[in-house]
Amino acid sequence: MTESFYKAHVFCCNNERPAGHIRGCCREKGGVSLQNYMKVRAKELGIEKTRINKAGCLDRCELGPVMVIYPEGVWYHYATREDVDEILETHLLGGKIVERLQLENDQTELTPAQAESLACVMQCMPPKTEPEETGKEV
Ligand code: FES
Repeated sequence: MTESFYKAHVFCCNNERPAGHIRGCCREKGGVSLQNYMKVRAKELGIEKTRINKAGCLDRCELGPVMVIYPEGVWYHYATREDVDEILETHLLGGKIVERLQLENDQTELTPAQAESLACVMQCMPPKTEPEETGKEV
């Protein structure tokens, strides 16, 4: 049997839904900037043979931002750069699961600690502004 092309493959949800959607989306909770940060940090840490891809909706929106790492199939909720650092260092470099961020297969709500961390991040996010109406066609 041949060795896998990648040692690990990470899929980070980048899906966006309209504001106020009942399920929310990972993008409104900072998923895109955290995925970009993860890619940069992975390079800085010398993590090789690992692909960090953006993904569409992974259907665990209420738990977002979410990522899944293969080949293990481990799911994580993450809200901060510190969370991303811990996943990189503990999971991808150390080979151990970050239990405080892991999502169980039957989990439908964030744990109180996960929810508190996300709420803190959401409070600090700048409000999303709509483009100004100019009356001109673009
Ligand atoms: S919007 Fe991210 S899992 Fe659905």
